[in-house]
Formats: sequence, structure tokens, C-alpha cells
Amino acid sequence: MRFSDGIVNDMVTSTGVILAGGEGKRLRRFETIKPLIKVDGEPLILRVLSRMIEHGVRDLVIVVSEGDRLVQRTLLEHADRIPADCRIRYVQQSEKKNSMFGSFLSLGKEVTAPFFLSACDLVFERNPFACFTGDMQDTEGVSALFCADVEVNRHSGGKVKALLDGQTAVQALGKTLKDANAIEAGVYHFSAPAYSAFSSFVAARPEITTFEEALSAYNTVRPIKPVLYAGTHWFDVNTPSTLIRAEMFLRSNRVESSTAVTGTPRLSALKKTVTFSYDKKITFDVHVKSGIIEHLEDYLIIPSENYYSPHHLIVDKNIDALYGEKVHAKLTSLGYHVNKILVDPGEWTKSAAIYLQLANKILNDGLDKKSILISLGGGVIKDLAGFLASTLYRGVGSIHMPTTLLAQCDAAIALKQGVNGEGGKNLLGSYYAPLSVIVDPTVLLTLDERYLRDGLSECLKQAFAQSTEFYDFFSRYDGPLKNLPFLEEVVSRSIALKIPTIEKDFDEEREGLVYQYGHEVGHAVEFLSGYELGHGESVAIGMRVSAELARILGVSDDATATAQFRMMKKFGLDICIPSDIAVDDVVEGLRFNKKFHSGEARFVLVKEIGSLWHDRSMYTVQCSDKAVREAVARSYADTE
Ligand SMILES: NC(=O)c1ccc[n+]([C@@H]2O[C@H](COP(=O)([O-])OP(=O)(O)OC[C@H]3O[C@@H](n4cnc5c(N)ncnc54)[C@H](O)[C@@H]3O)[C@@H](O)[C@H]2O)c1
Repeated sequence: MRFSDGIVNDMVTSTGVILAGGEGKRLRRFETIKPLIKVDGEPLILRVLSRMIEHGVRDLVIVVSEGDRLVQRTLLEHADRIPADCRIRYVQQSEKKNSMFGSFLSLGKEVTAPFFLSACDLVFERNPFACFTGDMQDTEGVSALFCADVEVNRHSGGKVKALLDGQTAVQALGKTLKDANAIEAGVYHFSAPAYSAFSSFVAARPEITTFEEALSAYNTVRPIKPVLYAGTHWFDVNTPSTLIRAEMFLRSNRVESSTAVTGTPRLSALKKTVTFSYDKKITFDVHVKSGIIEHLEDYLIIPSENYYSPHHLIVDKNIDALYGEKVHAKLTSLGYHVNKILVDPGEWTKSAAIYLQLANKILNDGLDKKSILISLGGGVIKDLAGFLASTLYRGVGSIHMPTTLLAQCDAAIALKQGVNGEGGKNLLGSYYAPLSVIVDPTVLLTLDERYLRDGLSECLKQAFAQSTEFYDFFSRYDGPLKNLPFLEEVVSRSIALKIPTIEKDFDEEREGLVYQYGHEVGHAVEFLSGYELGHGESVAIGMRVSAELARILGVSDDATATAQFRMMKKFGLDICIPSDIAVDDVVEGLRFNKKFHSGEARFVLVKEIGSLWHDRSMYTVQCSDKAVREAVARSYADTE
């Protein structure tokens, strides 16, 4: 490698700049900052960095948000991927604007040599830096990468379009450009003089606020040199939907490139040494009583054989102020050793990282085989505590005190425990029975109306898919949601319907699939909304799509679909897919469903109010992509 006066003397550029200080608004609700979000198991920034290294870059400059040490720590963890002769420098983003442009402006005089510049969130099928060939010594020209496969990459997430004049000039650039024939791909090459000229140009124009505006304006004085991306797919991972697309693309590529094992004998060809079978009966009690939380001392909540063991009460900070302190005080006043563990409220607490943190804490604080983990809270706390109980010491006791409608009727009664994985909901989990579930409907009166509606969606699901009596009950009711007698009845009816179903099919493979109604599209839109939509709100949208699908396929009639739509709307549930979630993204998102096997999606469908479609023990319907697409497309508009 040779440089003289900052001019490239050969074809290789050895400096690379990665802009990793942007905010990534749509991905903010994911568990980590954008550069560290994993796609196909690899943090985004490591992917870009590896591509630069592959292309001979050895001097890496990474612009990070102020005070951020996470990127540095993650790259240290992957030191084996970074050659010894590589130097990494970190520049703190000084510009207030938390955007790619802000990151760029923060570079200042940190770079002098010719360099590649890339956003941190790009996923390419082939190495994009290898496309920069030929003469790049042009003193003040900026080279930018463009993808000409506009149709193939219409879902790439790339927002800036371009009109290229052959391969030589950029006629126009912009987000709203008509007649574009390329997409700008977020990778650039700056010669040293080009960087200095471009920076001065930008500094003299404070009205420029985005990188796109800067490039577009600069192009009118110093033509940008277009470099064509010589690959097919690429993704700008800025939204949950491009995250899904990039993930699915890389996964399917991996499957296609793995060699099929042929001619290998089946395991069944081996003579059996022994066949093991094991049948354990599951028993647990569910108690429903209004006001029981206020009178816990009147009941033997923790069995006497567990009296001397250390127990743990897991509660979120919202619930602690309302009920946690009280429950803790009552249990300790009875002589039990109860350690209260406070966690943050919200879906993010149900993560693998928090699970591990709490597991270690509980082990350090004290645990034995007779210890009990008590959950006091919504579905998040119950799922987390239940999973901890099922794994610590290979299983200790658990007692759930659910405090949301959703948790009282659904989450605490199911045997499913778990936490979310980086790629989606509930990816780490177990089936595990608690010792008991204590349900106090009065606590629902402090719950925000939005969460009441959210929980009610899962109860309506039971009415639609399981019970005409429950449906009639909802039809007759005309009062407010926050009404104790109404809520008591909803909770009791819902639990009474649920218990016999899980007794028959606890792992939800046949009649238990009634609990998955609306969850196929529900899980997809929940994820695609960046978890802005609640679980029950998403399931309501999912039920809308499933009802549309059932009538498209002739599984049910129009009246069955309309009855569901009317009921959900009566209780204030929005059953339209938000307009910023695209049909294609929902269809793609279905692949993340655990029920999706290679080929087409399978749906649980309601045949008529109160019963699911099924053929003997088969409770799911395989649905063509075309039918699903149509049902999704119909679900943006309001009904009636
Ligand atoms: N295991 C299962 O079978 C199952 C079934 C359905 C849902 N889930 C899971 O449940 C979770 C959602 O549960 P959720 O809707 O209960 O949400 P949640 O646990 O996040 O609770 C919602 C909010 O309400 C607050 N809150 C809870 N009880 C309250 C009360 N009585 N008064 C005032 N505020 C209160 C909480 O602090 C939280 O901010 C999701 O993760 C979902 O996947 C699991």
C-alpha cells in the first residue's frame, strides 16, 4: 500500500469509516442499539466491518453516539474476526443531530487518507467495496454506490432514488424522484481532496440537514461518480420489516448453500438399545377471589413444607407501588423469607439478558429445591418468572399472582413460560406448571383502559373460537370496561374455558390451537410495529385477517366474519393494519411464526362463532400465499 499526498496510487483504499451514531428511530424499541442488532446471528456493524476488512481495509474509524461503549465492547468480543494488523479508532458523535449526517459531520479531521464510508446498517449479498474499481484518483469527485436492480430491491429499505445516465453520471438524486433507475446504496468513496472539498461545501451551507441533500447539491458542482453494485440483494436495515427481510434472505441463502446429506442411513435402521417413556401428571390449582391480595395472610399461600426455604417475589416497578410492597409485607409478616426482586415494566424485561441476570441474582441470593418464585404482575413478569422457575435447579416451585386481564385469563393459566429472543417473541421457553395461580380481579381496576382492552382481545378470541355462550355474554353486555362484576365474570368464564382445553392439549397441537387464533398475523404485526402495538391489540388485527382469510377460502361465511368485526369494534379494538406496515412485510413476517414450516403458512381458522375449523385432529389450514396476501390487503380498510 502506498500513499503520496493523500492521493490513491493503487486500487486499494485502506481506510474505512463506519457511521454508527444514528438513532434508528423505528428500531429503537429493540433490545439494543442499531449497530448491534443481529441479522442472521451477527451484529450489523460487524457485518459491514468484515466486508471492509475482506476488501483490504486496515484502518477503521467508527463514529459512535456520545458515551457509547457498547459497540467497542462488542467488537472486542469478536476480536477473532479482526486481523492483528487492523487499527480501530472510535470518534464520538459531536453533532447534536442523531443521524447519519450528524455522524458524518463529526468526522472532522479524523480522516486524511482516501477512505470508504458506509452506514453501519447495510446488509449486502456481495462485498460492496469490491465494486469500487477503476480510477478513483479524481481529485474532488465523490464516488457513490448505486443499485440498478430496482425491482429486485424494491423492499431493500433504501429510500434515496437516483436517475443515472448510463454508468457515468448522476442526473438527479432524491427521495421523491420520478423515473428513477437506481437506488442509492449508502456506501461511498472519498479521495482525500474530495473529502476536504465536500466538507467545505457542506460547512458553507447550513441549510443542508441530510446526507442526501448534501450529495444532491454537491452533484451540481462536482459530479458524483456512480459505481454500480455488482450483486443482487442488499438491505438498509432501518425498520422492523427490512430487518425481517434481511434475516429471511440470509437464512434462506444459508439453507440453499448447505449441501444436502444424501445416502445417509436413517437412525431407525439402528437396533434399539432401550425405549424410554415417561408420563407425569400435571396438577395445579387456580383460585379466583376478589380482594384476596388484601387478605393473603388469611390463606396458606406457600405450602408448609416450603416454610424454611428462601423464596423470591418478582414484581415490576409499577406493580410494586400498588401491590408489591403490600404482598411482600404480608408474606414476611407470616415468617416466610421472601426476597423481593424489582424489574422494569415492559416487554423488554422479558429478554434473555434479564433472564440470565435474574437467574444469577437468585442463585446468589439463595435458593434450594423447596424455594418458590412468586410472580406478581402482567404477562411479562409471569412469563419471565415462570421460565426462571422451570430452569433454576432444573425446576423449583412457582406461584403466579397475575395483575392484568391478559395474564389472569391467558398467560398465567397456560403452561407456556419463556422470554423473547433477538429474532422474535418467546423463542426461549418451556412448558412448566406452577404450584398455584391466585387471581384477584379487583387489581384490574387500577389497570390502564388500554391494557384492559388489550386483555379483552384474548377473551374475545375464546368467544369467537371456542364458546357461543361466551360470545352471547359479550353481546349482551353494554356497560363500561372498568366494572368489577363484568371483569369478575369475564375472568371466571375465560379460565373455566381454558382449563379443560389445556388439560386435553397443553402444548397446543390440536384443540389447544384455539389459543393461537389470530396469532399468526398478530405476532407479525406486533413485531413490525416495533412493539408499539400491544399483544392483544395485535391479536385483534390478526383475528381480523384470519376471519377475512376464512371467508376467502370458504371456511366460513360473511356473517361469521362480520360478527367478529362488530364485537371487536364494540369493545374499542382497532382491527385495521396500520398503514405504515406493508402487505409484503406482513406476509414475510409470517415466516417468523413457529408454526411456519417450509412452504406455505398454516392458519387456525374459525368455522362459525364458537368453533374452529378442523378435520379430525388437524386444526390448522394450509393457506396459499395468494389467499393470505388478499386477506392481509383487505384488512387495512375499516369494516362497514
Ligand atoms: N404464556 C402465555 O401463554 C402468554 C399468553 C398471552 C400473552 N403472553 C405474554 O404476556 C405479555 C403481555 O402481558 P401483559 O399484557 O399483561 O403486559 P405487561 O406484563 O407488560 O403489563 C402491562 C403494563 O401494565 C402494568 N400493570 C400490570 N398490572 C397492573 C395493575 N393491576 N394496575 C396497574 N398497572 C398494571 C405493568 O406494569 C405494565 O406496565 C407478552 O409478553 C405476551 O407474549 C403470554
